Amino acid sequence: MCGIVGYVGLEQAAPVLLQGLGKLEYRGYDSAGIAVYQNGIFTIKTKGRLTDLKEKIKKEDITLSGKIGIGHTRWATHGAPSDVNSHPHSSENGRISVVHNGIIENYMELKEMLLKKGRKFVSETDTEIIAQLFDDCYNGDMVETMIEVIGKIRGAYALGVLCTEHPDQIVAVRKDSPLLVGLGEKENYIASDIPALLEYTRDYYLLEDNEIVLLKQNSVTLFDLNKKEIKKEVFHVTWDVSAAEKDGYDYFMMKEIVEQPEGLRKTIFPRLKEQAIQLDHISLTQQDVKNINKIHIVACGSAWHASIVGKYVIEKVSRIPVEVDLASEFRYRNPILQKNDLCIIVSQSGETADTLAALREAKKHGVRVLSIVNVVGSSIARESDDVLYTWAGPEIAVATTKGYSTQLSVMYLLALYFGAAKEHIGKEEMAKYIQDLKKVPEDVESLLSLEERIKTLAKEYAQSKDVFVIGRGIDYAAAMEGSLKLKEISYIHSEAYAAGELKHGTISLIEDGTLVVAIATQEALFEKLVSNIKEVKARGARVIAMAVEGNDDIEKVADEVFYIPKTNELFSASSTVVPMQLLAYYIAVERGCDVDKPRNLAKSVTVE
Ligand code: AGP
Repeated sequence: MCGIVGYVGLEQAAPVLLQGLGKLEYRGYDSAGIAVYQNGIFTIKTKGRLTDLKEKIKKEDITLSGKIGIGHTRWATHGAPSDVNSHPHSSENGRISVVHNGIIENYMELKEMLLKKGRKFVSETDTEIIAQLFDDCYNGDMVETMIEVIGKIRGAYALGVLCTEHPDQIVAVRKDSPLLVGLGEKENYIASDIPALLEYTRDYYLLEDNEIVLLKQNSVTLFDLNKKEIKKEVFHVTWDVSAAEKDGYDYFMMKEIVEQPEGLRKTIFPRLKEQAIQLDHISLTQQDVKNINKIHIVACGSAWHASIVGKYVIEKVSRIPVEVDLASEFRYRNPILQKNDLCIIVSQSGETADTLAALREAKKHGVRVLSIVNVVGSSIARESDDVLYTWAGPEIAVATTKGYSTQLSVMYLLALYFGAAKEHIGKEEMAKYIQDLKKVPEDVESLLSLEERIKTLAKEYAQSKDVFVIGRGIDYAAAMEGSLKLKEISYIHSEAYAAGELKHGTISLIEDGTLVVAIATQEALFEKLVSNIKEVKARGARVIAMAVEGNDDIEKVADEVFYIPKTNELFSASSTVVPMQLLAYYIAVERGCDVDKPRNLAKSVTVE
């Protein structure tokens, strides 16, 4: 996944492009570059971070006076991170310059065709093909040429294109990769995401697939693939700029851990009305729910972990069978979907390629799709029949925290909504559930006070080689998220394991000093977890346990215990994830890792 930005206006383009790319680095950061028009297209790009690009501009003492330009921050797909593979890419005659987020699937056949026409290539990327192809198709009209190029390329793309013969305009398009238009006063913008432009404008066009935009200093015109003009509503953003800033925290991740209670309140409370669950603007009626035979929940990564918690809670409360799938598996296994099934798609970014493909697979089977998404107007949101937004606010750190925890809260809301529709929950039981649900944000808030204790503990375990996170039932689902947090930001190998499964092989890996995190919040399974802790202790493990306040027996077996507030155990994953987020965070800090931008990762994986 990459970040692209473009500007045309009365000011110097370079500062705007660099500022915007700084807000998009979470989308990819292995190389960066910009191109501006100043008596021809001037391109400067480099392997490395945006700071390396700025350094290069300074060192080469370049004056970037152009008032129109495009920029790119990369997460490599075709071709290793290098100066020559970084974007923008130009046609060999320098007439065209392109930035691209996505993947061109037929780039090899296009490259063959262009090579036969005598064109030469300098990079290993698919994007350079687009620049050469655009030049090859160029007929003097940027929009018409873009339409012709779109007709020849297959894949996912958000494109921004400059042409030396039209120094006053940028043409751009999106298909399966996000792109939006920022509307300014006598200046206009394109970007992959809102934070890149929030400093300049709050008014946007959210582009749909195959919508082409012609951007000029004083006009923005949208076209369809028949070059017919399109009219669009302006999307006005109400976020404050600080929401996309670090606010004094060392890393966005800590800021977003701390923001969880607020995100939970914003996600839960507006949907609690007079002792009932009222889901905003969804077309799924209580009668529709009565007819649901089976629910398929499909997602990737942490969203998949939230989906597994969702399975436990929805099945327990509504008795509707739930099947959870990894999107990358679901989309290729020809899933068995019936007419009255419901597909729930979960995605923080709303742009994950596998998850978007899974959504389309479900719709191909004629199944209703309800999505749980954090980014308003994202591709998954727009292609769903119903959307329940998590109101977590922009999440910048690659490792999700508030995105995941607010997804959990929507799962709880859905479980109660389905339970009521299926008449599995009476009024009194519902009132009790709602009372417990209202307590989730304050329980999470109370656990943030563990920070100092965990910070100290992290120093002791920062050099662990392997970490196992074990639990049963919902605790096992919660363990998956805790394990991923540790892996993705501290690079320590970690595995989540069903505690009852450990003895079937993996316990052979437990040796002196191995760290095991044991989650024991489910009352009916508590004693079994205590036994599992004894099993691993007997083999030399160090055990950090999590239990509900009052279960002091666990202190007799574990080396360290974190207690979570008494709660409805269906909602316990919202609490147990907090100590694991903090532990992963402080171990990563202790190991000197870049917590917000872990190696090899990107915030939203918009490629397969
Ligand atoms: C979470 O910390 C990871 N960054 C990753 O697993 C993420 O959850 C996954 O890529 C899905 O992203 P999405 O929720 O934006 O679809």
